[in-house]
Amino acid sequence: MSKHVMSIYTVVLGSLLGASILFSGCSDVGELNPPVYKTKLPADEIRNSAFKNEFPLQYGYYERNNETQVMTEYNGSVNYNKHNNADPLPEGYKHAQPYLKNLWLGYPFSYEYRSARGHTYAVEDFLKIDRINRYDEKGGLPGTCWNCKGPKMLEWVKGKGDDFWAVDVNAMRDKLDVKDHTIGCANCHEPETMELRLYSVPLQDYLKSQGKDFKQLARNEKRALVCGQCHVEYYFLDKSFGPAKKPKFPWDNGFDPEDMFTYYQDQGECRVKGFEGNFVDWTHPVSKTPMLKAQHPEYETWINGTHGAAGVVCADCHMAYVRTDDKKKISSHWWTSPLKDPELRACRQCHSDKTPEFLKTRVLFTQKKTFDQLLIAQEISVKAHEAVRLALEYTGEKALDYENLVIAAQQMIRKGQFFWDMISAENSVGFHNPAKALDTLASSQQFSQKAVDLACEATKFGISKDLAKDIKQIVPPILKHSRKLQQDPEHMKTHEWFKYIPVLPAANQVWDGQKKL
Ligand code: HEC
Ligand code: HEC
Ligand code: HEC
Ligand code: HEC
Repeated sequence: MSKHVMSIYTVVLGSLLGASILFSGCSDVGELNPPVYKTKLPADEIRNSAFKNEFPLQYGYYERNNETQVMTEYNGSVNYNKHNNADPLPEGYKHAQPYLKNLWLGYPFSYEYRSARGHTYAVEDFLKIDRINRYDEKGGLPGTCWNCKGPKMLEWVKGKGDDFWAVDVNAMRDKLDVKDHTIGCANCHEPETMELRLYSVPLQDYLKSQGKDFKQLARNEKRALVCGQCHVEYYFLDKSFGPAKKPKFPWDNGFDPEDMFTYYQDQGECRVKGFEGNFVDWTHPVSKTPMLKAQHPEYETWINGTHGAAGVVCADCHMAYVRTDDKKKISSHWWTSPLKDPELRACRQCHSDKTPEFLKTRVLFTQKKTFDQLLIAQEISVKAHEAVRLALEYTGEKALDYENLVIAAQQMIRKGQFFWDMISAENSVGFHNPAKALDTLASSQQFSQKAVDLACEATKFGISKDLAKDIKQIVPPILKHSRKLQQDPEHMKTHEWFKYIPVLPAANQVWDGQKKL
């Protein structure tokens, strides 16, 4: 690992020098050491507004995170209801994965899943999402969910230590200010000096396990790790593995999907045959498969991609240096798609010989190829659940080792869907690592197809004819579903797969944002 750090360091030195030549005549930002300040802020300051007077320039850019209109081909900052293809979509919306609700059935992600927008909305959007239960005083999710929503964590973890993680998520609902305590300055900076720091416990734990000290790392490694506090794959510990619901990063074997999948195989309390000891997020009710849900692995995807390997970090593209009115150069604190800038200035710090059109075309080239394969992987994953459902309910003559074949098929469902999700949940649609994205999707398709084949074999191919048609005819996409709709018996008759989840008891909404109704 230290070799990796060294090489990043060298390249960074090179690219920073490159950048400072480009910006010749500008002030301090291209230099090796970051500026150190002496502020009047106390060491435990966490309110965003407290930083405004000391750093009006960075704060001004920070406020641009409120911009929420502009879309790009696949991303942008409009928090549309992702991929359900049913709600009115903003103009310009083109690409939907129609099967998300099928693949996450029985898990709150099937209720609502939105596209990301700026950091300034993190708390507000979190409070609205149907994934935390608003129909019960208790949310049913652990306080850990707050970990990536803002600097309030510093206070909560200091106060409660490892007892914090398992508190009910709704118990903290009204204990923070939606704007002043959303993702902000204290998540990445020491208030007294503005040096970069980590607030994140799981990332600190990981570095410690590697014998590393954040303070001693190269500047550019820090400029990526501050994002790696949240833009990563993670899970919450089962209680026999440490403090219940404490977040952990599954990186002991490495950063590739296979490494993380292997890691999860012995990190949980699952007792289902064939999945003993697995870490499990939920059991898919249709195929009865113990599943994993992946979360936004930007850091792990980027790290060994073209740019990551070359030492180009998150901040280079998402926090490019900008010149302010009085000619001062600062890091943009508007974390958003670099493609929203028609000039693609962030990219052209380095690719100064290329036009914005050329660069954009290259990004879209990767994204289109990735999205096409993502859709195929998604469909085979759906087919795999259906195949195992049919095998489980099969009444004809079965293969001698029927039971083992069905278990093997379920294992392939778990793996195929996790690999699909590692790219689906990753927010760059392949750009952060084109080769790994396509490799992961090809693997996903192979694993899921293997699940279909094994299920067919288990029934001596008795179910094969039922799976021969186009997937949209066999299993239509579930486009509408929510916690409220699951309370409606009529809605629950609209899709064959709904019979595998319970109709919820009728209930009124208890929470609206921070308000108790
Ligand atoms: C997600 C992490 C993150 C957050 C949140 C954040 N910053 Fe930064 N900030 C950075 C990074 C990365 C740099 C670049 C440091 C470097 O180049 O060594 C930086 C640099 C700075 C600098 C040094 C000068 C410059 O512009 O490069 C100042 C001052 C600063 N930030 C102020 C703020 C303020 C004020 C806030 C809150 C409104 C804030 N930051 C929020 C990550 C963050
Ligand atoms: C404290 C956790 C946290 C940290 C640290 C963090 N992010 Fe985020 N980021 C989020 C969350 C949560 C969202 C989605 C917010 C929403 O949709 O309400 C997000 C959204 C984004 C978006 C999408 C914005 C848009 O316009 O759609 C980008 C880009 C981004 N982050 C980049 C970064 C970069 C680069 C860094 C490091 C400099 C970073 N983030 C650090 C949690 C974090
Ligand atoms: C070489 C430049 C580059 C680097 C380095 C980079 N990104 Fe990106 N990132 C992009 C591009 C280009 C996109 C695609 C934007 C789009 O589709 O509109 C993107 C997309 C994203 C998005 C989704 C943006 C949106 O509009 O919703 C997030 C979040 C993100 N990156 C976070 C990160 C994090 C975290 C890192 C470091 C671990 C990182 N990026 C490293 C260029 C970069
Ligand atoms: C800090 C410097 C830097 C920045 C900023 C940067 N790149 Fe790169 N880019 C590189 C380097 C270095 C390589 C690898 C070149 C090589 O190995 O020959 C590269 C390679 C590429 C490639 C070819 C490889 C591939 O993955 O397809 C593309 C396309 C590309 N960059 C696009 C972009 C875009 C778009 C942005 C802005 C979102 C961007 N770059 C920002 C330095 C940078």
